[in-house]
This record gives sequence, structure tokens and C-alpha cells, in this order.
Amino acid sequence: MHHQETIFTIGNGYLCTRGTFEEGYPGDRGATFIHGVFDAARNVNTEIVNEPDWLPLTVYLNGERFGINHGVVASYRRTLSVRDGLLTRTVVWQSPGGHRATFTFERFASLADPHALYLRCHIVPEFSGTLEFRASLNGHTDNLGVVHTYWVDQGERDGVVYLDNRTRETKIETAYAMRVQTTTGHQLSRAVWAVENKPCVMVRVQARPGNEIVLDKQVVVYTSRDVPAEQVVSTTLEHLNNVAAWDQAVEKNAEAWEDAWENSDAVIEGDDEAQRAVRFNLYQLHIVAPRRDDRVSIGAKALSGFGYRGHAFWDAEIFMLPFFTHTAPAIARNLLDYRYRHLEAARAKAKANGCEGAQFAWESADTGEEVTPTWIPDPADRRRLIRIWTGDIEIHISADIAYAAHHYWRMTGDDTWYIEKGVELILDTAKFWASRAEWDAENQRYEYNDVIGPDEYHDHVNNNAYTNRMAQWNLQTALDVLDWLNAEAPARANELVNELDLTPARLAQWQDVIQKVYVPIPPSGVIEQFEGYCNLKPVYMAALEPRDISTQQLFGIEGSNQRQAIKQPDVLMLLYLLREHYADDIVRVNYDFYAPRTDSTYGSSLGPGIQAIIACEVGKPDEAYKLFQLAAESDLYDLRRNASDGIHAASCGATWQAVVFGFAGLRITETGWTVANRLPSGWTRLAFKFLHRGKLQRVELTA
Ligand code: BGC
Repeated sequence: MHHQETIFTIGNGYLCTRGTFEEGYPGDRGATFIHGVFDAARNVNTEIVNEPDWLPLTVYLNGERFGINHGVVASYRRTLSVRDGLLTRTVVWQSPGGHRATFTFERFASLADPHALYLRCHIVPEFSGTLEFRASLNGHTDNLGVVHTYWVDQGERDGVVYLDNRTRETKIETAYAMRVQTTTGHQLSRAVWAVENKPCVMVRVQARPGNEIVLDKQVVVYTSRDVPAEQVVSTTLEHLNNVAAWDQAVEKNAEAWEDAWENSDAVIEGDDEAQRAVRFNLYQLHIVAPRRDDRVSIGAKALSGFGYRGHAFWDAEIFMLPFFTHTAPAIARNLLDYRYRHLEAARAKAKANGCEGAQFAWESADTGEEVTPTWIPDPADRRRLIRIWTGDIEIHISADIAYAAHHYWRMTGDDTWYIEKGVELILDTAKFWASRAEWDAENQRYEYNDVIGPDEYHDHVNNNAYTNRMAQWNLQTALDVLDWLNAEAPARANELVNELDLTPARLAQWQDVIQKVYVPIPPSGVIEQFEGYCNLKPVYMAALEPRDISTQQLFGIEGSNQRQAIKQPDVLMLLYLLREHYADDIVRVNYDFYAPRTDSTYGSSLGPGIQAIIACEVGKPDEAYKLFQLAAESDLYDLRRNASDGIHAASCGATWQAVVFGFAGLRITETGWTVANRLPSGWTRLAFKFLHRGKLQRVELTA
């Protein structure tokens, strides 16, 4: 059920709600997460808050409470329409006392009006008597036991009830207002029950066999991130007075979704399973995409579960962002603005580490400060703690963010944004890289030591190829864009030169690092993932089958550090991002070397989608398809058995990349774009659109 709660999450870019049932069930793990609402939390620094629950609707059949954990469930079906975000559940149920009825619940979070949430319940009773509905707003929610909100106020105005709660530490106020009405059926009585922190509207109607009863619950929500705290309740109530009724709301929502899909759909013919999986992944990105907010990013689990506490990683920039950059650039810009807003926090992090410039947090939330937990309980023995080093030394994220900003600009041609914000991101991260480089006098080279690369099974490594080469790219790009800025917007260039202290001496040092940073390619062409990697014990995934645990679980943390098994593409990730800098045969030898050593099935979910693209390039269609399936079906089929923690949002983005850059082989350069038809067997047609420099492009490939 927890897996299904995740995959049946609905949302609209403002909030998401997990797919629990309106009437609840024992052990359910419901949650509504609103973008940007974080609160301080022990050990994990801060976490996205499980807000009050707007779903509760219990139904009584002649006094017997409906619930599928008792009575008889004669039939059950749940459908999520990824076309328009409508979640529908139909249950035929008979109470222990023999009262039978068909229940249909529908719900959606309006994409057209992001503060409006809709729930409708149809019941066709097969008995005579009464049906009682209890619709409430429940402030008694928690994050797996940790309570973040407390009651502030509640009340009733003209039959509408509201509830106002506040987060403990961050003092963010959230108000919900709810209207409940039946559209058919004879109403017998109605009351408002002012239960503290759980205001409830009770409606009792007459039940007659075969006569359908329909009840609507409309909810409006605002937080003090949207309006000043003292206006949250009044704004919420006012908005509820003006929201569209069900039919019109359904229509407007459908139109908004049609717009969202218009440029972003990927049509696959000949493989329904792949089509469904791809659209499911894109749906998950759509429901969490901050369309109207440039103060938030997208967490590793989107807004669909408690995993990673709503924190954002490089997942957002490297895995998800390309989908938005190419299909909805305004959303990509919002996500990049989030990083830009946190430049000060990144500067503080660099400074605290004795560096200059901007060093972005490995895990980031509402303030941009580092929020990676330093210690977490060992999943194998929860009485023991494990030290997490990523927040200290997984430094490649600063180059990843610079890369994403630069890529956004190249693809969109958004000079205004780039001049105002993007260039500063690139220059200040470059400044960090130049100051973090260590000079090795003996070997006459710059090094980045004591780091973690994308493959987190090896920590405290020296000269991780990905990190060193991306640092070099970041520095070179900074010099190039500074030249560009000097020509295009000299005043802004001057401003940045002064603000960031980009003296000729500093720029000369950048040049020196670029030339002498250690990024070797040996004669074999196999780029060593980090110094000493090739001397570790070789491990080949094929030799470990069958297994259903990761290689890190198999060998332990220390054992993994001593072996070549890797959690996710690292060198291959580098080759993917800087593809135009590497010859085809380098890509091939590295694929052949690293693919058998990569734990694609149980390692990180980020990898398979990207590895699929390289597999396409090196002519391994069957491997590519298997890797694509690992990405696309990861959550639908709970392949890693942890979808209950939330959607693997990076994998959703990587799935789109696998289709577009892998199977369609799309390559975009300054002068145009090309495709390479590598449709998997069985696919008869693949069609999608993307935006290049503001112009819509259409791609259509057939078998
Ligand atoms: C992966 C990281 C990723 C993080 C959040 C980790 O398991 O190794 O690359 O950023 O999960 O998804």
C-alpha cells in the first residue's frame, strides 16, 4: 500500500498529496507536502512538512463505517489518469451488517488554480436507510512520528469551515478552508462539528436502492509563503468563495494539463508498456514542477514521500532539468533561480571550508545551507550510526549547477537571464574550484583530493575524474563567458569583475588550473574513476547473480571501498555530459569497462537512464532497452523496493533523456540539431517536441 500511495500521488506544482484513501486504513502513510514549507528536524537538519490532511471523508451506511479493512470488498479498481491528474477509485463494498453500495471517489489538485483541491464521492446504495458523510480537515499529522505543525485557529463562516496551523520552528502558517455539499440525494441533516484541530462537516442523506448520491468536498489552501501571515485565513476563505464548481473545475484543470502535455509528451507506438511508463514518469515531473515559484527546487523524492526529507540534490539540475529546459523553459528558469537565490549560502559554505567563491550544498532545502545529515542510523542495525560524508566532500554539485545554467542558456538563448544571473553562477563556482585545487609540487599538477564522486560507494578518494574534469570545464566556461559578457554587456561584466574580485591575477590562476589539473586519459583509453581505482578488487555484476540487494549491502561499506563495484555511472556520466569533448572510441572502451562493474539494478536509480543513452551510442540496443526499463519502471513496479519513500524523481528525468537523447539520438549544437534513429525493437513510432531557442521543433521517427 505504501508503494501505491507514492505512485498515486496527485499534485499541481504547488503541492502534492500521496494516494492514501479518503476513509483511511490502518498503517497508512498519507502526506500533503507544499513546496517550500520546511521545518527544523533533529538529525536531518530540516524536512519538508507533512501539512494538515485535506482528504478525510468517512462514510457510514446505516451507522456502519465504510473501510476496506473490514466487511467484504466485492470489487476494487483505482485509476490515475496521467493525462489530467484525476485519481479515481471504485469499490463495491458490503458492510459486516450486510449493507452494500458502490463507491466512487475522484480527486484532483487543480493545475489551473493551484490553491484549489477537489474531491467528489458518488455512492449508489443497494439498501434503504441513511448515509452519513463526515468530511474533515485534519491538523493531526506528522512526519513519521515527528510533529511539525501546531493548531492556531479554526472556525466556521457561512457553512464553510477552516483550519489554521503553523510550523513549529519556521513559523509558516497554512490555512485550509472547506466546503461540503451534496449535489443529489435528499439531505436529512447537516452539522459542523468543531473538533479541535479537526473541524468536520457532517451530512446525513437518505439512502434508497439504486439512487446515486454525490457529495463534493472543495478545499482551498494558502500559506504565509503566499500571502502575509495575517491574511492567510481571509485569503483562503475568499478564494473558496470564488472557486469553480466541480464540472467547470474539471474542465479548466483538463485544459491546463493539455497545455502541459502539448510540448512535453513523448508518443511511443508499438510498445504500450513503455508508453505508459514514460508518461507516468513525465506526469510525476509535471505534478511537482514549480510553475509559479522560483524559491524552490525539486527534491530527490519530488513531493511524494518522506525519503530524503524534501532535500534537493544534483538530481534536479542534471537529471530533471533537461526535461524542463527543452519543454518548459520557464520552469527550468524557476529551478535555476532557486540556486541563484542561494548564492550567499553557497559563499558561506565555501568560506567555512577555507575556500573562495560559491560551493553549493550537497543537500539543499529552504535556505540553501548544507542540510545533509552527518550521521544516520545504519539500516542493518539501527542502534549504530553511520557517518555520511557527502555534505562535506561530494563537491561536484557546484560544477553540476554551473553546467545546468550554461546548458539552459545554450538551449534557450535566454540572454537576459544569463546576463543577470547565470553568468554569476558560473563565475562564482569557478572561483570556488580555483581555490579548492591543491598544487602538487612533486608532480607539477593541480589535484582535488578527499572527495566523493557520483559513485558514492567510494569515499575519500583523490582525483575523481568526474570532479576534476567538471571543475576544469567550469573554469574554462567561466573564462569564455566572461569574454562573452565583456562583449555583450560590458557594464554587467564590470560589475561582476568588481563584485567577485576577478583581477587579472586571479584569472591567470584559473588558466593555470585549467592547464595543469590532473585529468589523464591513459593509452588504453579507460579513464580511471579516481586514483587507485584500477588497483581495487575487480567485481563483475554478472558474477553476483542472483541477488536482490545492492553490492554495498553485499560487501559492506568498507568492503565496497575496496572493490570496483560502483553505485552509478561516474566516468560514463562525465562522458555523457561533456560528450562533444570525447571521441567515440573513448566512450566505447569506457562503456565496456564500466558497465559490467556498475550496480544498475540495486545501486542508484539515477544511473540506468543515463547509461541507457551511452549503450545506445555504443550500439548495444538490448542493454539500452533493459537499462531504460530499469529507469522507466523503477517506481511503477517498485523495482528497488523503496518506492514507498517517494518517487525517484531523477529517474523520471533520466527516463525522458533516455528516450530523447538515447533512442532518438537527439544532439543539439549551436547550429542546429540531428537525430539518430535507434528505436528499440517493437517501437514503430516515436514522436516528441522540444524547444530550441524559443522555437518549437518536432521529431518523428518510425521503425
Ligand atoms: C545517489 C545520489 C543522489 C541521491 C539522491 C543517492 O543514493 O547516489 O547521486 O543524488 O541518492 O537521489
